Amino acid sequence: MTTKISVEEMELQRDFIKKVAEINSTREPPVAHVHTFGCQQNVSDGEKIKGMLSEMGYGFSDKPDGADLVIFNTCAVRENAEDRVFGNLGALKHEKRRNPNMIIGVCGCMVQQAHIVEKIKRSFPHVDLVFGTNALHTLPQLIYEQLTVRKRKFYTPEGDGVIAEGIPVCRENALKVSVPIMYGCNNFCSYCIVPYVRGRERSRELADIVSEVKTAVATGAKEILLLGQNVNSYGKELGTSFSELLRQINALDGEFKICYMSSHPKDFTKELIDTIAECEKVTRHFHLPVQSGSDRILKLMNRHYGREDYFGIVDYIREKVPSAAITSDIIVGFPGETYEDFKETVSLVERVKFDSLYTFIYSPRKGTKAAEMPDPISAEEKGKWFRELLDVQEKMGENAYNRYIGQTFRVLCEGEGRTDSKLFTGKTPQDVIVDFAGDNSLVGKFVNVKITEAYNWALLGEVTE
Ligand code: 5AD
Ligand code: SF4
Repeated sequence: MTTKISVEEMELQRDFIKKVAEINSTREPPVAHVHTFGCQQNVSDGEKIKGMLSEMGYGFSDKPDGADLVIFNTCAVRENAEDRVFGNLGALKHEKRRNPNMIIGVCGCMVQQAHIVEKIKRSFPHVDLVFGTNALHTLPQLIYEQLTVRKRKFYTPEGDGVIAEGIPVCRENALKVSVPIMYGCNNFCSYCIVPYVRGRERSRELADIVSEVKTAVATGAKEILLLGQNVNSYGKELGTSFSELLRQINALDGEFKICYMSSHPKDFTKELIDTIAECEKVTRHFHLPVQSGSDRILKLMNRHYGREDYFGIVDYIREKVPSAAITSDIIVGFPGETYEDFKETVSLVERVKFDSLYTFIYSPRKGTKAAEMPDPISAEEKGKWFRELLDVQEKMGENAYNRYIGQTFRVLCEGEGRTDSKLFTGKTPQDVIVDFAGDNSLVGKFVNVKITEAYNWALLGEVTE
C-alpha cells in the first residue's frame, strides 16, 4: 500500500537535519558532490537531496575530488545508464583511498533492484550508504548515522511507494521549477523497469500542488514543469484529473509557462487535448512516446493502443492545436521484432512527421516480462535498423523549422546563448530553441520574438517589443 509519510516522521527527519548541522558547524564547512543520472524525476529528487544537505550545512562541488560526501542518484532505465554509474563508482575507489573519511552514497532507481544491491555489497566495498527511492526522505537520519556510527548501511524498503511532503529543495534554476505531481507507474510496459523501482501510481493532493506552484510563481518562477511517470493518469485515485489540475494552474495569476512530462498515449484523451487547447499557459509541445509502429509489437509491449489510435490522437492534436510540435520516443529491436515490424515503425514516423524523435535500442531489464522473451535478432542487425530510422527522421526533420519563419512567439529569455554569448536564448511555445539579440535586462522576462531564420536544431529571431 502507498504510504503518505506522517508529519511526525517528517519532523523526526527535521531533528536529524538540525543534529547533522550541529556536527557540521564544529568542523571546516563540508562539501558534497551530488551527481544525478536519468530523467527529470530524478533531477527533481536530486534537488531534494541537495535541499536536505544544504540545511545540514553542506556546500556543493561539481567534482567528487576532495568532497566529504558523494551521492550518486542513479537511473535504471537502460543498461548503459547503469554502466555509467558503475564506471563512476569504480573511479571513486582511488579518491576514497586518499580520503578515507569520504562518505559515498548511492540512491535512486538502480538500488531498488536486489541484484544491483548485491553487486554493490560485493564489488564496491568503498560504498558506505545505499538508499532506495522509498527512503529519500530519511537521508538526514542516514547521514547522521554515517557521521556518528560509521557503519555500511543498505536501506531499500520494499513496498508500493511513499509520498513525502515538505522536503526542502535546492532548485537548480530559479526560473524553471519542477513540481512532482505523482510518483510511480501502474502500466507495466513489458520492457520497462520503472514500475518495479518506483512503485505504484500515487498522486499528490491537488491543493498541495497548486499551492506549491503559486508560491513558485510568486517567487519568480516563469516555467513550471509538472512531473510524473505518467502525468495524464494524475488524480484517478483522488477523484480528480490532469485536466482539472491544468485548468487550476492555468488560472493562477502571473505570466508563466506550464510544461509536463511524461505522457502515455493511452491516457491522452480528447478532453485533455481540448483542455490544453484552451489553457494558454500550457506548452504547445506534445511529447507522446509511441515506442513502435507495429500493432503486434505494441501488444507485446503491453501499451494498450494500436497505430490507428495513435494517428487519431495526433490528428486531433493538430486539429485543435495547429501550432503544436509533436515528438516521440521509439524503441528499436524489441524482442521478437522483425524487419517488417520495424518498417511499420518507419511508416508511422513518415505518416506523423515528428518534430524530433528520441530513439533507443532495446535494453533487457532483469525482472521485466520482455527480458524473458526470445530475442533472436543480433545487436549488429538492430544497430542497422536504428541507423536506418535515424536517417528517415533526419530527412523528415530537414527544413521542418522553416514553418516558423515569420511567426512571432512569446519567449522566456533564459540567459546568454549557448554558442554565441552575444545572443540571448529561450524556447518557443513548441519548445524549440530560439536565439536573439538582446541585453541582460531581458533575462527572466517574456518577450515577443519574431523568427527570422531556421536551422535544423534551432531558430534565430529578433525581439519585436
Ligand atoms: N530499453 C530501451 N529503451 C527503453 N526505454 C524504457 N525502457 C527501455 C528499455 N528497456 C525508453 C522508452 C521510454 C524512454 C524514457 O526510454 O522509449 O519512453
Ligand atoms: Fe531512470 Fe526511469 Fe528512474 Fe527516471 S524513473 S531515473 S528514467 S529508471
